[in-house]
Amino acid sequence: MSLTGLFLILFLIVHLTGNLQLLSDDGGEAFNIYTDFMSHNPLIQIIAKGNYIFILSHAILGILLALKNKKAKGSKYAVSANNKSSWASGNMALLGTLIFAFLFMHMGHFWFQFKFGSELPLVSYDGVEMIDAYTKVVSVMSQPLWMALYIVGLAVLAFHLWHGFASAFQTLGLRHKKYTPLISVLGKAYAIIIPLGFAILPLYIFFTQS
Ligand code: HEM
Repeated sequence: MSLTGLFLILFLIVHLTGNLQLLSDDGGEAFNIYTDFMSHNPLIQIIAKGNYIFILSHAILGILLALKNKKAKGSKYAVSANNKSSWASGNMALLGTLIFAFLFMHMGHFWFQFKFGSELPLVSYDGVEMIDAYTKVVSVMSQPLWMALYIVGLAVLAFHLWHGFASAFQTLGLRHKKYTPLISVLGKAYAIIIPLGFAILPLYIFFTQS
């Protein structure tokens, strides 16, 4: 759980960095070129396949762990730092299931369309034709229902990461007098900054393009 979770934590940083190009005031050129590169580069494609496996493993292991905890009704860790636990820590399986539903919607909006969709918008830069991913993103995010569901999904992600980041290190047994409090603070900062960074995108598109 923790190793797959740590990989997904890294994936979110890369995904957000790329997606921030949606904010460039260039009619979507930077974002389209980036998306085209990501979907054609062979190395990125291998990492992407690994990513799908990590997401599925993380979800399946999470369900198994939740079932085991329910049965045992004990502590999740061999050594507990303290008895205070957040709402998020007790609801990781629920939050994870909601994130899975969010991903289902998200993949349906973009990944599935880009791979199997017909009548995709196309654009050409310097004679190179590619999918106009920017127009597709704008067409989804400028609709109030989808925009709202993205924001809800990202709030759920924030709660999941609030507990998940530090938990991953604790599960790996990486406890240290000096570094554990630092990891905890870093985890909380990550849990706020990353979902907030993503949330800016649907909000920005909705309020500037619809
Ligand atoms: C709200 C901001 C977001 C935007 C605008 C966005 C945009 C996109 C786009 C355009 C793609 C398709 C790229 C392609 O297939 O070539 C994509 C793929 C994907 N997104 Fe997002 N995304 C957002 C948030 C998220 C979040 C929060 C997660 C995870 C919780 C996520 C997980 C994924 C995954 C797993 C893929 C498939 C990647 C691959 O095929 O390699 N996205 N996203």
